[in-house]
Amino acid sequence: MNNSTKIYLLLFLVSLTIISCKKKDEYHSLDERIHAETRTGANGGVNSEILLSDKNLMEITEGHHTFLIPERKGELTSYSCTECHNKPLKQIASSDIKKAHWNIKINHAGSEVMNCATCHNGNDMNNLVSLTGKKIDFNKSYKQCAQCHTVQFEDWKGGAHGKKLAGWAPPRASMTCVNCHNPHEPSFDQRWPVRFNSEKVQERKDGFEFK
Ligand code: HEC
Ligand code: HEC
Ligand code: HEC
Ligand code: HEC
Repeated sequence: MNNSTKIYLLLFLVSLTIISCKKKDEYHSLDERIHAETRTGANGGVNSEILLSDKNLMEITEGHHTFLIPERKGELTSYSCTECHNKPLKQIASSDIKKAHWNIKINHAGSEVMNCATCHNGNDMNNLVSLTGKKIDFNKSYKQCAQCHTVQFEDWKGGAHGKKLAGWAPPRASMTCVNCHNPHEPSFDQRWPVRFNSEKVQERKDGFEFK
């Protein structure tokens, strides 16, 4: 390489650097951009805190797993139960209070296995009840499901059954059983996959869609 070639090469490199640094808000490398645009939490590092900030979460520890789940009591339309269940069921049923919960039908285990009292305690309606009569907080209703569905419970604790609430990044926040399953009728109806085929495209062309 002779001297003039070296100078040209040098000039070329210098101009390249100038061009690449021209705009202040442009990044020099992908790495730099990732670091600059990563949403970091209070303790630094990649974090889902921002995505979870509008959610009402509570921390639970089950076995080796500690994570967040949504609180439930605020979501129950008929909580607090003791607003009406302030005396034994028989008295309530025969009192002037209107019939209630007509919309709740059990379609879960058979009636020889399960009725309302399997999960609700007439003497302490503000809490759920375990099979052995222990009280279970409505916010921790997964404990009730776990009594019979041990496999799904184990999977859920580890994150294999269910779904995360926001990003993959910590802190871990997972949906709880009742976010997806209605305890009174927990299985999902079978559905056809969403239909999108040539017929649909034709319908759009014909203007049948989105009217
Ligand atoms: C607005 C009043 C009201 C509220 C609030 C209410 N209940 Fe009731 N509940 C009733 C009445 C009235 C009955 C008696 C059933 C009937 O005759 O309709 C009843 C009956 C029940 C029964 C027994 C049903 C049966 O067939 O044996 C259960 C279980 C129950 N309620 C659970 C709850 C739970 C759990 C909550 C809170 C999450 C709650 N209720 C909140 C009014 C209420
Ligand atoms: C397998 C257990 C189980 C059985 C059986 C069961 N429940 Fe529940 N019930 C629950 C759980 C768990 C919740 C809380 C659900 C949630 O967090 O969304 C609940 C919630 C409710 C609520 C509050 C709903 C709301 O949105 O305010 C009422 C009322 C209720 N149950 C009544 C009944 C009645 C009446 C029966 C019998 C016909 C019954 N339950 C049977 C587990 C059960
Ligand atoms: C007392 C035991 C018991 C409790 C408590 C219980 N389940 Fe069940 N559950 C059963 C039985 C029994 C079946 C019927 C199993 C079958 O059909 O194979 C069932 C069925 C189901 C199914 C449908 C399974 C399928 O193959 O379609 C789901 C989902 C489910 N339960 C979720 C829950 C959730 C969520 C809770 C907590 C709110 C819960 N269960 C509490 C006993 C229980
Ligand atoms: C993010 C939603 C979600 C959460 C949270 C969730 N499940 Fe499920 N669950 C599902 C879906 C989806 C299926 C598959 C239903 C189907 O195949 O029809 C399922 C299936 C089941 C079944 C049927 C058997 C099986 O494995 O296919 C049971 C029992 C069950 N779940 C119990 C639970 C329990 C107990 C919890 C909490 C510890 C829970 N689920 C949490 C969505 C959820």
